[in-house]
Amino acid sequence: MDPIDNPFSPGAGAPPPELVGRDDILNQTTTGIARTKACRSERSRLLTGLRGVGKTVLLNKIAWIARQQECITLQMEARECQSLAEMIAPAVEEALNSLDKIRGTKDALAKGWKTFKALLGGARIRVSEFEVGFDPTEGNESRGASVVESTLPPLIEAAAEAAKERNTSIVILVDEMQYLDIPSLRALIFSLHNTQQKQLPFYLVGAGLPNLPGLAAEAVSYAERLFLYPVVGPLSQSDTEKALQDPVQKYNVHFEQEALDEIFRQTQGYPYFVQEWGSQSWNLSMGPTITKSDVRKATLYATSQLDERFFRARIDRLTPSEKTYLRAMSHIGPGQLRTGDISKVLGRRSGDLGPTRDKLIKKGMIYSPSHGLLAFTVPLFDEYMKRVMPEFAGSTPGHAP
Ligand SMILES: Nc1ncnc2c1ncn2[C@@H]1O[C@H](COP(=O)(O)OP(=O)(O)OP(=O)(O)O)[C@@H](O)[C@H]1O
Ligand SMILES: [Mg+2]
Repeated sequence: MDPIDNPFSPGAGAPPPELVGRDDILNQTTTGIARTKACRSERSRLLTGLRGVGKTVLLNKIAWIARQQECITLQMEARECQSLAEMIAPAVEEALNSLDKIRGTKDALAKGWKTFKALLGGARIRVSEFEVGFDPTEGNESRGASVVESTLPPLIEAAAEAAKERNTSIVILVDEMQYLDIPSLRALIFSLHNTQQKQLPFYLVGAGLPNLPGLAAEAVSYAERLFLYPVVGPLSQSDTEKALQDPVQKYNVHFEQEALDEIFRQTQGYPYFVQEWGSQSWNLSMGPTITKSDVRKATLYATSQLDERFFRARIDRLTPSEKTYLRAMSHIGPGQLRTGDISKVLGRRSGDLGPTRDKLIKKGMIYSPSHGLLAFTVPLFDEYMKRVMPEFAGSTPGHAP
């Protein structure tokens, strides 16, 4: 069928034609935002899930809901090598400007601008009219981080006070939150705790990989009292069918049941994959019924698209020893693996592999579901590793691969 009409949207963060299976998370978060705006106590949300499961599109939807409730939203994405101050400054500046446009006393806002300049002053950032900063050669990670820890909570407090006066609230949305370093996480959590104690309208929605709750607990021991951790998982079979069937219906097209079963079998309900299979099946089908045979043909194209766009981008950032480590994991199989078993496959001592493991966790490729266990953060990555490194045989005693 005509690719121009193709209703599916494969790609990271691409809004799906139908956001299915997330009503509970959306309803609960909507209530949380409304309660915070009314200065009622409410736990903030950290959404966690594997790669491609739909965290970013959910966060975008929540930001939209917050704006519908006339909240001031600060939306940002953490990156591996960017400080929190650098990331948050443009969003805070925008928020203060928005607050300035709403009627209210100037005092609280003036306090906001003052603390904002303090944040900039300590963290070598440039934002529009402000260009204050310390010499980067003088600076170091710990100094930058401690500046954020001391300046962010009063800044958020001042902004939330100004918001309260204006009958609105501040909602901050942080994607890829697992990339924040511990002092930055602590700064955000302190800000949340502080505004909660003062009953000021500030709400945080974060999204990240499954190691995020552990990082939050490492940053602040009482983190679990401040957050709820909704898990964003794969779609159920009926939600997968809805994600496929509803978008094509308005073109008078439908998937036959066997085609839906085949897509669910191939994708295991992972949203990124569902969009990719839906899209390729549409392109290959003559219509108006998309058959199991169309889906089987589509599998070849969908797999090569995933290899090119979804998996490869991730493996390209790895060193040879990191790739070998992942290949050893895939040798054992999917799911949660014992670090000891992986070391055995590599014919190495577990302690020697610690730095490689840590780097892979920092790069967001794997996470530790519990002590001594590891799993891939990217669904079906084990199969991909076997496709790109087919020759790996594992270690035989006395021979490291
Ligand atoms: N609930 C859903 N129903 C249907 N499709 C969805 C749903 N959620 C996400 N998708 C689709 O899945 C793909 C991946 O979504 P998204 O980029 O939000 O995932 P993510 O969890 O943020 O991934 P990453 O961890 O790689 O950033 C997109 O193409 C999106 O349209
Ligand atoms: Mg994302």
